[in-house]
Amino acid sequence: MLTIALSKGKMLDLTLDVFRRAGYALGSLSTESRRLVFPCPELGMTFLIVRPTDVPTYVEYGAADVGIVGKDVLMEQDSDVYEPLDLGFGACRIAVAALKGQASSDRLSSKIRVATKYPKITERYFNQRGMSVEIVKLYGSIELAPLVGLADRIVDLVETGNTLKAHHLVEVECIAQSTARLVVNRASLKLKHAVVTALIKKLRAVSRTPTGSRTSAPRKSSRGARRTVRRTRK
Ligand code: PRP
Repeated sequence: MLTIALSKGKMLDLTLDVFRRAGYALGSLSTESRRLVFPCPELGMTFLIVRPTDVPTYVEYGAADVGIVGKDVLMEQDSDVYEPLDLGFGACRIAVAALKGQASSDRLSSKIRVATKYPKITERYFNQRGMSVEIVKLYGSIELAPLVGLADRIVDLVETGNTLKAHHLVEVECIAQSTARLVVNRASLKLKHAVVTALIKKLRAVSRTPTGSRTSAPRKSSRGARRTVRRTRK
């Protein structure tokens, strides 16, 4: 049995669509329901519906073998999970934005205040530019912060750009692109290798990355992976 954690919210319908196109008949699974657990014994799978930010935790601790979650969440959390597949959907970018007329960095005071639900990504980004920032952690409606004087900048997801426009904000810089990723628990990849790789293969067949290229064999997207890369470079 494979346990799969799916991100609820905007990405859920797109995720279910990919699974269905890959040949998995998810009869009882509906985005309308309040249910959080959907056993599908005929597929040998159980689906869990969890908050996007909780998906890496379920997978890292082995409560789920596999998860589907945005790259933005993975970048923020730095979880110890494998990330073998870019599913390509849910494309958006993590961007810095400011109120129109205040986007020029000349106007910034020595320490600016940045509102975001991505404090780690934000801190890394501004630190790399040698800028000292005060981060205000919010949990949603980030675009409101500059309007009411809570922050000079925001770091948030931009998809169509409509939310920025509606709040008189402009994109200053793009920090990173984000798409939905399939992540796998490290032990599950070994202990359930055949079923996990069969799932990856089927989902890969119906997924294309935004650039049109298909992603390759399992690799780590984890603290462990980065440690390995660093060791290799030395
Ligand atoms: C996300 C994001 C932006 C919006 C961007 O918010 O935080 O607010 O979508 O989309 P757009 O560029 O297509 O307008 P979400 O709807 O997830 O809600 P939240 O603000 O409560 O996080």
